[in-house]
Amino acid sequence: MSRRKLVVGNWKMHGSRSVNAALLDGIVQARPFGCDVAVCVPFPFLSETAVTLSGSDLRWGAQDVSSHEQGAFTGEVSAGMLAEFGCRYAIVGHSERRALHAESDQLVADKAKAALGRGVTPIVCVGETLAQREAGETEAVVKRQLSAVIHTLAHCAGEIVVAYEPVWAIGTGLTATPEQAQAVHALLRAQLRAAAARADEMKILYGGSVKPDNAATLFSQPDIDGGLIGGASLKAADFVAICRASPA
Ligand code: PGA
Repeated sequence: MSRRKLVVGNWKMHGSRSVNAALLDGIVQARPFGCDVAVCVPFPFLSETAVTLSGSDLRWGAQDVSSHEQGAFTGEVSAGMLAEFGCRYAIVGHSERRALHAESDQLVADKAKAALGRGVTPIVCVGETLAQREAGETEAVVKRQLSAVIHTLAHCAGEIVVAYEPVWAIGTGLTATPEQAQAVHALLRAQLRAAAARADEMKILYGGSVKPDNAATLFSQPDIDGGLIGGASLKAADFVAICRASPA
């Protein structure tokens, strides 16, 4: 089954209006790519990003979304608001949010449901810590994380994008080997097959120190459908090189 690759930049809490303008311009000028490309930007920059990218084939999204529709939730941003700004994606369950903001598997699942309810595709992140990997718990951890989402979304589970991001590889310069990543992606695909009729069409991205020099081998693995790129998405030349490393 050949799936079109997807490369998503996760800017995290970086950027400014002038820095973003130069970065987006560098990406826009480098089109066309042989894969789908998106950037997930901090909330205040969504409006300008939408203006800059609308009319291009580039997509944009957010890095989080509330599980609530609306109401007295100070500081939260709803899926309906993201949809108004043309967001195609919302990252949910990034390990930084799970660890630093104590997000539970169920909260992540509820966020994914809220996003889908407004036509925003959740990019659901799963991944084990180094201690969990060393204890042989990788499979159990990622399956538990994905299972909460599958159960909550039920018949809509096939609509999500999954991102496998081993926590020990994020921002550390350590990358899972293509074989290590593929092994987990295959497990996740099998889990999705048991739950969603279209599992073979679903995208499972790899994230964790993807760089221009390792992207092509990672993306050539059978169950790796592209990447979620942190640090390297902040430099146009690197991000563009990663997008180009992705076969159509
Ligand atoms: P990294 O981050 O590419 O800087 O490792 C990936 C991510 O956290 O999504």
